[in-house]
Amino acid sequence: MTHEIAVIPGDGIGTTVVDHSAPVARAAADTHDVSIETTRYGWGSDRYRSEGAMMPEDGLDRLAGHDAIFLGAVGHPEVPDHVTLGGLRLEITKGFKQHVCERPSRLFEGITGPLRNYSGGEIDFVVFRQNTEGEYAHIGGREYGGFDEELAVQSALFTREGTEPVVRAAFEAARERDGKLTSITKSNAQAYGMVFWDDIVSEIHDDYPDVELERLLVDAASMDLVRRPEAFDVLVASNLFGDILTDLGAGVVGGLGLAPSSNVDPTREHPSMFEPVHGSAFDIAGEGIANPIGAVRSWALLFEHIGEPAVARELTDAVAEQLADSDAPRTPDIGGNSTTEAVAADLRGRLG
Ligand code: NAI
Ligand code: MG
Repeated sequence: MTHEIAVIPGDGIGTTVVDHSAPVARAAADTHDVSIETTRYGWGSDRYRSEGAMMPEDGLDRLAGHDAIFLGAVGHPEVPDHVTLGGLRLEITKGFKQHVCERPSRLFEGITGPLRNYSGGEIDFVVFRQNTEGEYAHIGGREYGGFDEELAVQSALFTREGTEPVVRAAFEAARERDGKLTSITKSNAQAYGMVFWDDIVSEIHDDYPDVELERLLVDAASMDLVRRPEAFDVLVASNLFGDILTDLGAGVVGGLGLAPSSNVDPTREHPSMFEPVHGSAFDIAGEGIANPIGAVRSWALLFEHIGEPAVARELTDAVAEQLADSDAPRTPDIGGNSTTEAVAADLRGRLG
């Protein structure tokens, strides 16, 4: 069986990390006799500037037949971020009901994070972020432009269809890991959406009585993720809170360049999408120094999802081994002076 993967490099360093991580992923698959076929889609900001849309109108139809999607990043200094994000990434996550965004934060041996007294393995948690609605729902409007009364309304949307899958996925992960789940809200201040969230968490907890449930407000959780990150194992949060907490999570274990992400439709009716957490980073685009590890680890999440855990482990082990090796090449974001290409080539050398 051949796994068919759609690849969207996107903009800026998205293309760099895709160009260098895809061959590593293919080589890892080869070592386990797993066959993948990739189809590249050149969608993104360049297309927007020449044709007026980030992707073609039938974009979702073209992606629908694939087993998974790999995305680099989108975002361009000359195109508003809500256009690049809304015209591609959100089209895909919402259109394909990818309600669940999973983002692991693991401090690898060999990485010195910004927090003192933590060494490899001592920080290891995963955040499940609601990925399709919440505070990022496209609901609201502006009125009275140009008048003193000018106003804007932005509404948050919480549905059962969007909330239950991410809460359930988090409970499942908690059961497989340490048996503890932390649900993050701001229910004291947002008494409708967030209390609805709390209610759904309680309902689903009934199916997982073996999992210990903790509830934290997002402000307290932010403090504790810095003060005692080792206390966390699995977290579940709304779209906005999950977005912020996962950048914080990436920060405490060594930065955005290492962080992977998945956008999953748990029903598997539609393909799921895998991407590094970072954006297009135009400050370093074209320099060939983007860290490809976030992308490589995202390929690992992809292989896990398509039922090839041995390939996933192969990739993750190669990353762990490389980071633990003080002689291995590193990109500048984690203290080295090597290139994307050198890091990717070294990873390939560690496979098999
Ligand atoms: P960013 O993640 O692109 O960059 C933030 C900082 O981290 C920059 O200093 C960058 O150089 C550094 N960095 C990020 N990834 C790195 C890597 N792999 N290796 C080394 N250094 C790395 O976030 P920023 O600057 O806020 O956004 C840039 C553009 O990307 C914007 O247009 C934004 O909308 C877009 N964006 C897109 C995302 C996506 O496609 N999923 C996610 C986040 C931002
Ligand atoms: Mg983010």
